[in-house]
Amino acid sequence: MAKNYFYDITVVGAGAAALAAVWGCVKEAKIALVTGNPAKNSTYFAQGGIAIATGKDDSPKLHVEDTLEAGRYINNKRAVEILATEGIKRVLQLDRYYPFLDRDNGIIKLTKEGGHRKARVAHAKGDRTGKFLRESLIKVITKEKNITLFHSQVESILADEKGVAGVITDRGEKIISRAVILATGGIGALFKKRTSPNNLQGTLYSQITKLGGNLSDMEFVQFHPTALNIKSATRLPLISEAVRGEGAIIVNAKEKPINVKHPMRHLAPRDVLARTIWEYESKGEKLFLDARKIKTFPTRFPFIYALLRKFGIDPSKDLIPITSSVHYHMGGIETDEEGKTNIPGLWVVGEAAATGVHGANRLGSNSLLECLVFGFRAGKSVNTHIYNETSSKIKPTYIKEKQNRHDIRYIREEISNSAGLIRDKETLLKAIEKLKRKYRSFYNLPPQAFTIYSVLLAALLREESRGAHFRKDYTEENDKFKTRSHLNLKKLKEWWNNL
Ligand code: SIN
Repeated sequence: MAKNYFYDITVVGAGAAALAAVWGCVKEAKIALVTGNPAKNSTYFAQGGIAIATGKDDSPKLHVEDTLEAGRYINNKRAVEILATEGIKRVLQLDRYYPFLDRDNGIIKLTKEGGHRKARVAHAKGDRTGKFLRESLIKVITKEKNITLFHSQVESILADEKGVAGVITDRGEKIISRAVILATGGIGALFKKRTSPNNLQGTLYSQITKLGGNLSDMEFVQFHPTALNIKSATRLPLISEAVRGEGAIIVNAKEKPINVKHPMRHLAPRDVLARTIWEYESKGEKLFLDARKIKTFPTRFPFIYALLRKFGIDPSKDLIPITSSVHYHMGGIETDEEGKTNIPGLWVVGEAAATGVHGANRLGSNSLLECLVFGFRAGKSVNTHIYNETSSKIKPTYIKEKQNRHDIRYIREEISNSAGLIRDKETLLKAIEKLKRKYRSFYNLPPQAFTIYSVLLAALLREESRGAHFRKDYTEENDKFKTRSHLNLKKLKEWWNNL
């Protein structure tokens, strides 16, 4: 029997986007923060940093240009401008309250990362930016806000005829509120080779679509070029792009640098580099990061250094085995620049949201920034919505969906690779056919299968290559597709029935 709880706002998530959303909410609001396991979020693992154009020869305008170039010009330009300008303000504000950024004589230290023409990646304790950013956010919100923590996972979204009205958790808690902000992360854990924590399976996308929400840019799944190449049943540890920003290069087993067809070479945007790595690997070559010239490695990258030592690798002497790996999803639930969806009462922020800020390919270290900026904006936006109804009067219902751990195993082993780095019509169609054979009706799709189906379909419909989406049967960008993609329940169902 579910126990009822009544709040003004429910925020779901434990990473920077959720915490920044709470930061944006008014002091008076009674907030339920549903965190699951707080150590299992992408923010906690984020190494490289947070991009801010505060360097002497830099400007938000240049940051915008680099973000659009990496996103292959289908980004929501207004969102990008907000990101680059408000981002500086928000990061500096947080760092003023609870300092977390590395500084040298008071000046914020900045590194380069892939696709950035300037050094604009600020960091914390070398390579623990996410962890310490998160700690600063926690200090701000616990001091200022009226929060109750729920260490639970959200299973379902509650709704009534007016829109979203709360959530139900895996512990049977029915948390009722007229405003819900989801910051549940991406979909990386639908893939076998991934850097993402295991719980990021896109399990709420199907419910949200059934409630009338839209999905955007689902085809754009980003691979990070340098994950540590070890056998792992869960996530692959990341070797931050900042290591290349400090001078490391990618080499083959004969220590020969790989040939990257891009002017930024080993600091090319992730999509370019990940595909180059794939080309080498598909010819049977093993690749490595050569960081031996970075004399300050143990102090500049203490977390990565400790990790490598655990695997017996000494980066001052040894090459670091790397491979590319699923890392981030540019797509997700469609929102405006306030995180607002088209369903009354529902906001989505962070990796789960598709504001269009990243276009077809995210620039490194723009994601913590996105979380801070758009999380905070969502919190502010919710404030106008919460006091028009007493939550104890709301009588919501929810959509029950079957979840089964065999489904996730099946998706990872048999389906998601077709939506990987290199795609084509035949493979995408085969994967959809497999889903159709296994689950038969569209309404039988379990939540994770629904989400991967939407990725496969979006990838099938984009008959070009752009950013992270590469089709070997359409290898070039095509202006006909120079736009974001959108899916809703009707379209998803029609294609399911007609393919
Ligand atoms: C990295 O440190 O390379 C990852 C940071 C990011 O994904 O933006």
